[in-house]
Amino acid sequence: MDQQPFRKNSVHSGQSVNAIDTPALVIDLDAMERNLRVMQRFADQHHVKLRPHAKMHKSAALAQQQIGAGAVGVCVQKVSEALAMAQGGVRDIYVSNEIVLLSKLELLVSVFIGLESQNIKISIAVDSLEGIRNLAQALHNVDAQGSAQIHVFIEIDVGQARCGVPPGDAALPLAREIALYPRLHFAGLQAYHGRAQHQRTVAERRATLAQVMQDVQRTRDALKQAGFTVELVTGAGSGTFGIEAASGIFGELQAGSYLFMDADYAQNEADPAQPQFEHALFVKSHIMSVQPGRAVCDAGHKSHAIDSGLPRVHGRGDDLRYTSCSDEHGVLHGSTLPQLGEVIWLIPGHCDPTVNLHDHMIGVRGGLQHGVVERIIEVNARGALT
Ligand SMILES: Cc1ncc(COP(=O)(O)O)c(C=O)c1O
Repeated sequence: MDQQPFRKNSVHSGQSVNAIDTPALVIDLDAMERNLRVMQRFADQHHVKLRPHAKMHKSAALAQQQIGAGAVGVCVQKVSEALAMAQGGVRDIYVSNEIVLLSKLELLVSVFIGLESQNIKISIAVDSLEGIRNLAQALHNVDAQGSAQIHVFIEIDVGQARCGVPPGDAALPLAREIALYPRLHFAGLQAYHGRAQHQRTVAERRATLAQVMQDVQRTRDALKQAGFTVELVTGAGSGTFGIEAASGIFGELQAGSYLFMDADYAQNEADPAQPQFEHALFVKSHIMSVQPGRAVCDAGHKSHAIDSGLPRVHGRGDDLRYTSCSDEHGVLHGSTLPQLGEVIWLIPGHCDPTVNLHDHMIGVRGGLQHGVVERIIEVNARGALT
């Protein structure tokens, strides 16, 4: 007997949503596309550029869809993510993160040089003299005769205490260093406050961002006095982008999660100054055991990340709660337990690391109950951690 090759999920477009084996990562395409349009319209109305963070969906196809709707390009965090996006046809990529090793920078530069004839634009964040020198060295090593420029943003630490130089004068030596290399273009400042995104009340987020604005202004003023022009301030995530967009200081929004909206973000108090988004990313799961007082589904933390909390059960309110999990099991409690074999849809706690657990996302049109599989979306940058 011929052996059938093992396939992780054999569903194909045109099949009913019922044909999706579990657990599987499923996108409600109608909800996702509404999110995409709402965000782009918001950016357009506020005259700011939208450069969504592709570290969230890790998919060149979705990046292209965002660009098709008006985004200027995408952000990534890693060289390997940049490669995946470039190979998938994305031509404006900002590495919104510090890359300091020469070997990594040479790889980044070689992608850029390889696609130069296709008008690719590469930008990168820096917070050290070494990072700038290695970038210039990489350009020299890979393409000594060339003239193409890489755009460089100085990252300032606006309170997250992650990467970034302190606001103010500390940016000056970096701007001076960038200016030494004709193939590096000083493009502006990155000011991203990750923790602020998840502060629960609007008042907390506004207070944090008020300080961010002061930090950016102070740095911009110091640079201006030293003769440098800050062309663009880039930053913002899905929790605060309304504040950055209205600031008159930020010219570009890097939000990513708005496209899928995870359970953690849904706990933020809604800010009337920014649009609300729908959940569009789900783990389809089924009940594999029902025991006195509990049910167990087949989606544990190998199917969804739990770093930002456990998933919520879609459409069940507090009637049914996902209370604990192990590798392949999720335990559910509630007043109305589902039946053996019943399908449930989980809203992951954190979309970025959830996507990174899957090879594909299954795009469904027409809703989770009666919809049809429209497309299988590859997670091109799955595991692209380098
Ligand atoms: C530098 C940077 N910009 C933007 C984002 C996007 O944030 P979010 O997905 O929460 O919208 C992130 C997320 O961690 C980030 O690290």
